[in-house]
Amino acid sequence: MAKSTLSFVCQNCGAAYNRWQGKCESCGEWNTLAEEDTGGNVPVSIRSKRKGRTFALESLAGKSPDAPRLSSGMTELDRVTGGGFVRGSVLLVGGDPGIGKSTLLTQATSLLARAGHRVVYISGEEAVAQVRLRAERLGLSDAPVQLAAETSVEDIVSTLSEGAVPRLIVIDSIQTMWTDTVESAPGTVTQVRASAQALIRFAKKTGAAIILVGHVTKDGQIAGPRVVEHMVDAVMSFEGEGSQQFRILRAVKNRFGPTDEIGVFEMTGLGLREVTNPSELFLSERDLGTPGTAVFAGIEGTRPVLVELQALVAPTSLGTPRRAVVGWDPSRLSMVLAVLEAHCGVKLSGHDVYLNVAGGLRIQEPAADLAAAAALVSSLVNAQLPTDAVYFGEISLSGVVRPVAQTPARLKEAAKLGFQRAVLPESARGEPGGDAGLSLNAVNSLTTLVAEIAARGSRRGESNPPAEKNATPARFRREQG
Ligand code: TYD
Ligand code: MG
Repeated sequence: MAKSTLSFVCQNCGAAYNRWQGKCESCGEWNTLAEEDTGGNVPVSIRSKRKGRTFALESLAGKSPDAPRLSSGMTELDRVTGGGFVRGSVLLVGGDPGIGKSTLLTQATSLLARAGHRVVYISGEEAVAQVRLRAERLGLSDAPVQLAAETSVEDIVSTLSEGAVPRLIVIDSIQTMWTDTVESAPGTVTQVRASAQALIRFAKKTGAAIILVGHVTKDGQIAGPRVVEHMVDAVMSFEGEGSQQFRILRAVKNRFGPTDEIGVFEMTGLGLREVTNPSELFLSERDLGTPGTAVFAGIEGTRPVLVELQALVAPTSLGTPRRAVVGWDPSRLSMVLAVLEAHCGVKLSGHDVYLNVAGGLRIQEPAADLAAAAALVSSLVNAQLPTDAVYFGEISLSGVVRPVAQTPARLKEAAKLGFQRAVLPESARGEPGGDAGLSLNAVNSLTTLVAEIAARGSRRGESNPPAEKNATPARFRREQG
């Protein structure tokens, strides 16, 4: 008798249970369990005992007929993939609806097709006419991309098995695909997983590179198929702020390349334009001369990126002050605030604190500590920071400013963009590579920096209303402690 394979599968993480329950014990999400047939993706007839077939074992040194990497012709895309699409690899591109995933992939496939590669674009969401319309808008109608609107994985695999092996196949999107081998409805975790498995098998067998497009849920996860993330070779997320035209492609996982690189694009009326110098873009709308802003000289992957940090520190009307941060790690902000309180006498417990990274960039480096601290103190004492200065350095729990990697690259980028000063860790001063013509203000501890900014505040205060007078660290302690 065939065993029943009905079970309750978490639509978030894919864990399976025998009975329904409100909370998934595996990922902790509520109300994500749905009944599915998890009979696996192997037909019952094959699941019976069969003798294993023998296969040939191969050596590591084998030669592939084509170059192992296929460069897309888009520098920013290649930077994130680590130099191009790897033969037989599967890449998942996630992002909010409307962010530009289909646009990006239409552009990339067209460039490859024009370069003479067999490239296939399978759309499960849009009709062929819609895809054509987009290509027309992008001026890419002449590119020999092979196009189809299909959702059956079996049909897709059979079709693509004919003729020359495609170099690249785009599946837009994996959530619309379905396979006969499982019973569940399209879009469920079981279907998505089984479809992805079939496509991954096809990629490994033939050597074609496959890009799967995945939707992102409101909380930022690639919807449901977190399971797919484990199966594919690389996961990329395409991000951007609704109101702004920048789009950032970021590697979340990459078996064949770095995960700290970003690719920067700008959405224009004619599709995505590559932005080769992101600093210029991120600094293009600076609020020059506003207290609470500091320019951070950061590194994203191998590339220096200058970006403005904006802070707002305002007296709170709530019992528990608000701490909101966009584009940076909230626990890092808490740490900087704690160090400011404990070592520099800056009392912030009666203030709401907001921190924003301009341009929709997300910073992961601890090197942003110093710039964040400078912006926060600048906002608190209402003193503008020098507009020609960049800041970088990690702050330790003891309030010491610690050195960070790649000082010369940061300074060079700052000099290139017309900055004249850098506030940086003491130990970075003597580093080989020179100062790139900047005047360096090395700070050893955060206290020094706070005192300097507070002095700017008090200097301002002398010619201004008395509210800003004598804004020294000691004063915060008396007034707000
Ligand atoms: P799309 O690639 O369809 O997004 P996704 O596949 O991630 O859902 O992009 C849709 C948005 O991009 C849409 O709001 C219109 C805009 N867009 C442009 O601004 N310029 C263009 O040249 C194209 C093709 C789209
Ligand atoms: Mg799309």
